[in-house]
Amino acid sequence: MNWNNWFRQIHRWVSIAFTVAVIVNIIAMVQEKSTVWVGLLALLPLCLLLVTGLYMFVLPYVEKRRDVERAGG
Ligand code: HEM
Repeated sequence: MNWNNWFRQIHRWVSIAFTVAVIVNIIAMVQEKSTVWVGLLALLPLCLLLVTGLYMFVLPYVEKRRDVERAGG
C-alpha cells in the first residue's frame, strides 16, 4: 500500500472516531457534564482529519503537475 492509500485509510477510520467523539460530546453537554478533555476527544481526531484531508485534497493537483513535468511541459 502506498502513502496516498495510507492517508485515505487513516482519514476514513479517524472519521469514525471523530463521529463517536461528537456523539460523546453531545451526551456530555445534554447531561451538563462537559469538560475540557471531552472537548479534546473530538478536537484531536478533527486535527488529524484536517491534515490527512488537506493532503488528499492537494494530491490530484500535485500529480497533474508531476505528469506535466514528466511530459516535458
Ligand atoms: C477537517 C477537514 C476535512 C478535510 C479537509 C477533508 C477532506 C477530504 C478529502 C479531500 C477527501 C477525498 C475526496 C476524494 O476522494 O477526492 C475526503 C474523504 C473522506 N472524508 Fe474528509 N475531510 C475533512 C473532514 C472529514 C470529517 C469531519 C469526516 C467525517 C466525520 C470525513 C470523512 C471522510 C470520508 C469517510 C472520506 C472518504 C474516504 C475514502 O475514500 O475511503 N472527513 N475528505
